[in-house]
Amino acid sequence: MSSYQAAFKVWRGDAGGGGLRDFQVEVNDGEVVLDIIHRLQATQAPDLAVRWNCKAGKCGSCSAEINGRPRLLCMTRMSVFDRAETITVTPLRAFPVVRDLVTDVSFNYAKAREVPAFVPPKGLAPGEYRMGQRDVERSQEFRKCIECFLCQDTCHVVRDHEENKTAFAGPRFLMRVAELDMHPLDAAQEAGIDRKRTAQEEHGLGYCNITKCCTEVCPEGIKITDNALIPLKERVVDRQYDPLVWLGNKIRRRPEA
Ligand code: SF4
Ligand code: SF4
Ligand code: FES
Repeated sequence: MSSYQAAFKVWRGDAGGGGLRDFQVEVNDGEVVLDIIHRLQATQAPDLAVRWNCKAGKCGSCSAEINGRPRLLCMTRMSVFDRAETITVTPLRAFPVVRDLVTDVSFNYAKAREVPAFVPPKGLAPGEYRMGQRDVERSQEFRKCIECFLCQDTCHVVRDHEENKTAFAGPRFLMRVAELDMHPLDAAQEAGIDRKRTAQEEHGLGYCNITKCCTEVCPEGIKITDNALIPLKERVVDRQYDPLVWLGNKIRRRPEA
């Protein structure tokens, strides 16, 4: 086994302020960034706060930014970095810092509560639901979400614009609206819930300009933009208030005209 010393800059502080601190830490073959953070805690900074749970990319709690990119600490291998490189680890930028690498992600829980749950169809008991395999597979992709909120952190609509947070649910929850809206058994409409209208008017779908940054950071490889947000825009959006989709349709139609 080979080991080396790596240079790290780790953000330390709390809601009142803080800054990057320099560390030299041992790295061994096969380690991930979370191993290094744990070694730092064990050897140099016992009070360094970091949130983690599974160390397997499944609980979604170890989200942070590594060299400015939103990533899971437990799924980022040290081998992807040059040994001479200084690795910077900072808390998620879009959410308030609690301490060190731990942020307060309650914004996301509030947004989750704003999306009405699946409305069961009348006259069918659980166990009697039937869906086409294609519909099952379509929503299955979205259900791989581990709620790491890396997509929420990276989306430029809120990343540097705190003022947009009240009006924008973020990619994770727009994806949830899309999932429910394409669910063949969801009886929201009959219950007086217009998911298409609320997507636009209450969850801020119109703010999304389909840059795909959310898709790029998703550790589950969910095609958030292509498979959830764009189809939702296409189904939902009235051309008069979303010129982007209107224009897109025009351009796409032109060659056939
Ligand atoms: S595609 Fe939309 S939701 Fe995703 S990062 Fe871009 S603006 Fe945000
Ligand atoms: S959609 Fe992907 S990036 Fe967003 S919270 Fe779920 S797993 Fe994380
Ligand atoms: S510790 Fe669970 S996803 Fe990283």
